[in-house]
Amino acid sequence: MRKKNIIVVGLQWGDEGKGKIVDLLSKEVDIIARYQGGNNAGHTVVSGSLSLVFRLVPSGMLNKDKICILGNGVVVDPVVLFEELDSLNKLGIEVKDRFFVSYKCHIIMPYHKRLDIARERLRGAGMIGTTGKGIGPAYEDKVARLGIRAVDLIDRDILYEKISLSLKEKNYLFKNVLGETVFNPDDLINKYLELGKRLKDFMIDSSEFINNKLDEGNNIMLEGAQGTFLDVDHGTYPYVTSSNTVSGSSLTGVGIGPTKIDAVIGITKAYTTRVGEGYFPTELKAELGNSIRDKGEEFGSVTGRPRRCGWFDANLIKEAAYLNGITGMVVTKLDVLSGLNKLKICTGYLLKGSIINHLPYSISDYDRITPVYEEFESWNGDIGGVRSFKDLPVNAQKYLIRLEEYTGLPIYIVSIGKERTQTIMLKNIFR
Ligand code: GDP
Ligand code: IMO
Ligand code: MG
Repeated sequence: MRKKNIIVVGLQWGDEGKGKIVDLLSKEVDIIARYQGGNNAGHTVVSGSLSLVFRLVPSGMLNKDKICILGNGVVVDPVVLFEELDSLNKLGIEVKDRFFVSYKCHIIMPYHKRLDIARERLRGAGMIGTTGKGIGPAYEDKVARLGIRAVDLIDRDILYEKISLSLKEKNYLFKNVLGETVFNPDDLINKYLELGKRLKDFMIDSSEFINNKLDEGNNIMLEGAQGTFLDVDHGTYPYVTSSNTVSGSSLTGVGIGPTKIDAVIGITKAYTTRVGEGYFPTELKAELGNSIRDKGEEFGSVTGRPRRCGWFDANLIKEAAYLNGITGMVVTKLDVLSGLNKLKICTGYLLKGSIINHLPYSISDYDRITPVYEEFESWNGDIGGVRSFKDLPVNAQKYLIRLEEYTGLPIYIVSIGKERTQTIMLKNIFR
């Protein structure tokens, strides 16, 4: 029987603990690949005294014999990538011959970052709350056929022509609309050719490479970034990121076919968080939200911004389940809920006298919905040392069982701390 290929996605608004779980599952696969997003992602892996936040490099990188790939769907800021690779090198983590970048990846240029930040300023109170890393403008250029791909960084004439073309419109915007200074292609070309020289050693055709590896009997884990409700089509638009984050996009994002995939694993926190602006039906604005934030150390891994916190929203997860074709879920940060007085799970939204079981279609309805909750007794004490379901406090067990019932998804793994070892395995995904 061939080894299983899996996709790992976030079921909420990002930061569900994908980094920890991808690192944990890496020992079961030969290849780990990112398929979308860029360095807006911050995936934390904790191993002993080491705590690393991966921005671009896949979270399997600490497993020294694994191959890590950035598929064509990822937007790459080469400056950030090399900073990350250099710091891994300093830690003695060898990347040579096991880290690769698709030659088709689109490159985040300095003008994308400037555009991202200036646009947010222009939006004022209606800002998205982006990470300011140039993600949106880089994807816009890709779709507008103005993008610079990794492979373009190794050809001076093509690079010069492409930068000049892309800047024609942007410089007009910078100067006349956004009140920003303009870019001169001559100031960018040498630096990006230098970066290209270094990137060349890592470049592959991710599709050809991965398909060959799979044919040879290897298996792959596709690592999602952001979360389902930041998806540009299915998320809480316009408060979303600029890529498709759902599992379907992982196939185009590395260039393999759907017949290769055996399981889709969804990661969710035992409660909900969101960073940046936008709708969040179960948000807790007052004290309780702050206490979850403090206990769960809910501050953005990329921007340090406080994450907004709220109750578990089973409605949202049900929707995420069919959007991604989830086979089973991982519930993280259960430990954070210990010691709270009461717990709540949202089971539906009340809108104009009726219960709806999906996010509102029209953005004006977000202000009109009231979440409907079921209440639970909590539990006390530190559960970080528990290693089996039956050793969890009874109320924690009941809470998890209700999560399964409400979402219709089996729980495969429960995470009760940052460390790799702070994990309760309920099912081996790869058997
Ligand atoms: P990602 O973007 O989905 O990879 O998640 P982040 O790394 O941005 O945020 C998750 C945070 O929660 C990180 O600081 C993790 O170290 C931490 N974390 C992950 N799982 C657990 C858990 O079960 N309990 C606690 N207390 N922290 C966790
Ligand atoms: P990981 O992979 C949480 C949010 C931003 C903002 C919106 C758009 O660590 O889960 P962007 O810079 O992408 O144009 O910002 O998306 N966002 C994230 N929130 N986790 C992430 O990644 C995120 N990546 C982007 O805060 O609201
Ligand atoms: Mg994160």
